[in-house]
Amino acid sequence: MRKLNVHSLEKNLKNNSLAKNIIVYDELISTQSLAHKLALNGSKEGTMILSNIQTHGIGRYSRSWFSPLGGLWFSIILRPNNICIPSQKLNLISSLTIIKTLNRLYKINAFLKWPNDVVVQSKKISGVITESNYLGNKLDYIVLGIGINVNFEINSLPTSIRSTSTTLQTELNKKVNLIKLLTELLNDLAFSYLNLSSPNSIIIPEWKLLINTLNQKVIISLNDVDYIGTATDIFEDGSLKLTLLDGSHKHFFDGKLRYLK
Ligand code: BTN
Repeated sequence: MRKLNVHSLEKNLKNNSLAKNIIVYDELISTQSLAHKLALNGSKEGTMILSNIQTHGIGRYSRSWFSPLGGLWFSIILRPNNICIPSQKLNLISSLTIIKTLNRLYKINAFLKWPNDVVVQSKKISGVITESNYLGNKLDYIVLGIGINVNFEINSLPTSIRSTSTTLQTELNKKVNLIKLLTELLNDLAFSYLNLSSPNSIIIPEWKLLINTLNQKVIISLNDVDYIGTATDIFEDGSLKLTLLDGSHKHFFDGKLRYLK
C-alpha cells in the first residue's frame, strides 16, 4: 500500500490552503489528540497532522474511530481571529465539502446524515469532528478532524460496524489516488472556510439537496432524552429544526440521530 508523500501534496495545494504546515506520521494514537497538544503549545493556524494509521482514532461522543492503512486521517488546527465560528457551522460546512469533493471526483452519491456523517447508500464513509478550546470566553482554537474510508476493504473494520460502514474502494471497486483526493479536498475546504466569514448565505438550496436527513422521521438522542419527529429544516449555523409529534418545534445543535422506518 502506497503511503502519503507530503512533498507531492504540498506542491499541488493552492496558496490559500487551510493546511500551511503538514506533518505526516506512519502511525499515531490519534491525529486529533496530537493536534490538541500542539495547539495548546502555540502551534499556528494551518498546522495539519496526518497519519497513515491511527491506533486509537477518536470519533464523536468519545467513540472509537477505526483507522487502518489506506484511509485519510487528519486534523487541522484553526484559529479564527475576527469572528466566532460556531463549531456546528464548521462541522456542517466541512461535511458538505467532503460530499461535494467525493461526488465530483468519483461520481458517487454521497449525502449528509445530520450532523456530520457522510454516507453512501446509507453507509458511513466519512466523519468529521470539530473540537473548540476557549480561553475564558474567547475562542483560542478549533481542531477540525476528518476521517475518510478510502483504499481498504470493509473487512479491515471490526465486524460490529461493517454493516453500517463503507469505503471508497468498496463503492468504486478500485483504489483511488489518495494524494489527489486529499489535495482537492484541502483546496475545497479552504474555499468553504474563507466563505464562512462572508455575510452571504453559505447553505444555498443546492447544498440542502445533499442533506438526506431533511423531511425524514427521526429520533434525536441528546443528554439521555429521545426526541421523535420530522427533520424540517437545517440552518446556516448547523442547527436542525425538528417538528415534534405534537406540532411544536425544537432546534438541535448536536445529538445522535437515527432514522425511523
Ligand atoms: C465521527 O464521525 O464520529 C467523527 C470521526 C472523526 C475521525 C477523525 S480521523 C482523523 C481525526 N483523528 C481522530 O482521532 N479522529 C479524527
